[in-house]
Amino acid sequence: MRLAIFPGSFDPITNGHLDIIRRAAPLFDQLTVVVLVNPDKRAVFPLERRLAFIRETVANLSNVNTAHFEGLLADYARASGARVVVRGLRTEADFLYEFQMAQINRQFNPAMETLCLMTAPQHAFISSGMVRQIAALGGDIAALVPPAIAADVAALCRPRTDQAPNE
Ligand code: COA
Repeated sequence: MRLAIFPGSFDPITNGHLDIIRRAAPLFDQLTVVVLVNPDKRAVFPLERRLAFIRETVANLSNVNTAHFEGLLADYARASGARVVVRGLRTEADFLYEFQMAQINRQFNPAMETLCLMTAPQHAFISSGMVRQIAALGGDIAALVPPAIAADVAALCRPRTDQAPNE
């Protein structure tokens, strides 16, 4: 069985992530979208919410499931039996980051390979941070995140109106 994992913070999942999932899924028997902790980032959406957004997004993809893990990606890959880690590359900056991560991960799990798919051009500018910022400022995120979750993401990013401006 060819198992692969697609790890990330997914805070929240975007159309860019979905594009990578849709293209990677047919290459494997099973693709697991794993929410991991990036120690350099403080998540805005709680873990359960991020997982729920992913589940709704991949509900119609039969060989895609979801998981979460706190620890090293290399350890998760070993424990899950997945040899391939899928990542999306948007820009040269992503490449430098992914190159370093792939090298480090192989130090900890030499059996693990990182497979990078080039992001579709129409998604190259999307990031979860951009989605949150646009939604928080009242912009339309319909073209940036999967339709099933757009309204909930927008509602949760909107500032609460019962708070004073500096609260
Ligand atoms: N389309 C759109 N956006 C994309 C994208 C794509 N194809 N690929 C990445 N992004 C965006 C994300 O939205 C995110 O945006 P943000 O910075 O505004 O949140 C950013 O690019 C990268 O995030 P993501 O892909 O979620 O990964 P990450 O860098 O937050 O986390 C982990 C990477 C979780 C895989 C990594 O931190 C990890 O392995 N953690 C476990 C600990 C570990 O093993 N550490 C050692 C390995 S280095």
